[in-house]
Amino acid sequence: KLGPSVIDIRSLGKHGYFTYDPGFLSTASCDSNITYIDGEQGLLFYRGYPIEQLAEHSDFMEVSYLLMHGELPNAEQKTKFTNTITRHSMVHDQLTHIFRGFRRDAHPMAVMVGVVGSMSAFYHEAIDVSDPKNREFAAHRLLAKVPTIAAWSYKYNIGQPFMYPKNRFNYAENFMHMMFATPCEDYEPNPVLAKAFERILILHADHEQNASTSTVRLAGSSGANPFACVAAGIASLWGPAHGGANEATLKMLEEIGDVSRIGEYIKRAKDKTDSFRLMGFGHRVYRNMDPRAAIMRQTCHQVLDELGLHDDPMFKLALELEKIALEDEYFVSRQLYPNVDFYSGIVMRAMGIPNSMFTAIFALARTVGWVAQWNEMMSDPGSKIGRPRQLYMGPERRDFVPIDQR
Ligand code: ACO
Repeated sequence: KLGPSVIDIRSLGKHGYFTYDPGFLSTASCDSNITYIDGEQGLLFYRGYPIEQLAEHSDFMEVSYLLMHGELPNAEQKTKFTNTITRHSMVHDQLTHIFRGFRRDAHPMAVMVGVVGSMSAFYHEAIDVSDPKNREFAAHRLLAKVPTIAAWSYKYNIGQPFMYPKNRFNYAENFMHMMFATPCEDYEPNPVLAKAFERILILHADHEQNASTSTVRLAGSSGANPFACVAAGIASLWGPAHGGANEATLKMLEEIGDVSRIGEYIKRAKDKTDSFRLMGFGHRVYRNMDPRAAIMRQTCHQVLDELGLHDDPMFKLALELEKIALEDEYFVSRQLYPNVDFYSGIVMRAMGIPNSMFTAIFALARTVGWVAQWNEMMSDPGSKIGRPRQLYMGPERRDFVPIDQR
C-alpha cells in the first residue's frame, strides 16, 4: 500500500527514532480512503471520482453520501439519505437560548464554535462513539443542523428572527432560504445562484488532512464527543491562513479599493520585510492551479453574468488582480495561483452574502468531510490517540531559585 518514497515510521518509532517536521510538510498522520490530491498536477478526487465530474453532474447530498459511505448512492439510498438529513435540519428549540447568550455583534464563527460545541450536551446518544450506530446518529445530525446554526448566527447578527428550514428546498436552497427569507417575505431561490452555492458546498466538502480535519481527527482520537470535535474543527478553520482566507480576500479587496492601487499591494506582497500576503493566493498542497479554483472561476463568471455585475468596481478589481498576479514573475515562479477561496469569496459577495459569513459557509460545507474522516478513524481498530512528539530546545536541568534571590 505504501509508495516507494514512504517510510512507515511505526517500525522506526519502536527503536527510538522520530521525525521533526514542523507544519507536517512531509509527515502523514493517517492512511485514508476518502480524498486524494495530486498537488503537482492539480488533481482532486473524492473516493476516486474527479472533482470536476462531481461538480458538473452531482449534487451535495450525493457527494455527502459518497464521502460518508464510500460509494455513490442508488436512487433509493439517495432518497432515504436526503430525507434523513432534511428531517433533522431543525435544531432543538433550547439552542435558541444559547444563541441569545452571545453579543449580538459576535462573529458567526465564534457563535458556531459555541453552538455546535453545545450540541454535545444535547445528544447523549453520541457519547459512546465505539458504536457505529451512534456515530451515524451524530454524523446525520451534524450534517443536517450545521446549516441551520450557520444561518441563524447571521440572523442573530442582523437582529432578524430565526427562519426555520423548509423541507421543500434542497440543502443549498434551504440554507439560502434561512439566510435571506424573513417572516414578511419568502425567498425564491434563483436557480443559477442555487447551483453556484451547491458547487461551493461540493468543492469544499473534503480536502484530506488539512488543519481543521487534522484537528477533528486529533480531538476525536481520544474518543471525545463528535459535536465537540467538529466545534474544534470549526475553530481551526477560522484562521486566515485556512478557511478565513475567503473573508480575508474580500477585506483585502475592500482595502485596495481601486484598480490603480493594485501595484502597491503587489509590491507589499513581494516585500519579505512586510508580513502582508496576497489573500486568496497560494496553497500548501497545490503547486499548480487548484482544480477547485478552476471550477469556481467558471462559476464566478456565470454568477456575475446572471446578476449583471461584471462592471461592479469590486469585481473589476478582483479580476484585474487575478490577471496581474497570473502574469507577474514573483507569483508565477512560486506557483502562487488564485485559490478556490479567491473565487468563492467573489461569488458569495455577488450573491449578497456578507463577508463575515464566508468562513461559516466553508464550515458547513466541510462538516461532511470532518464527519467522514472522523468516522473513518473511529472505525479503524488500529487507530491510536494522536500524540505528536516534540524536539525540546529549552534550558538544561537547573535548580529552583527562591524568589528573593532572583
Ligand atoms: N502572497 C505573497 N507571497 C506568498 C503568498 C501570498 N499569498 N503565499 C506564499 N507566498 C510566498 C512566500 O513568501 C514564499 O516566498 P519565498 O520562497 O520567497 O520565501 C513562497 O511563496 C512559498 O510560500 P510558503 O510560505 O512556503 O507557502 P505555504 O505552503 O507555507 O503557505 C499558504 C500556503 C498558507 C496558503 C500561503 O500561500 C498563504 O498564506 N496564502 C494566503 C492565504 C490563503 O489564501 N489561504 C487559503 C488557503 S486555501 C484553503 O484553506 C482552502
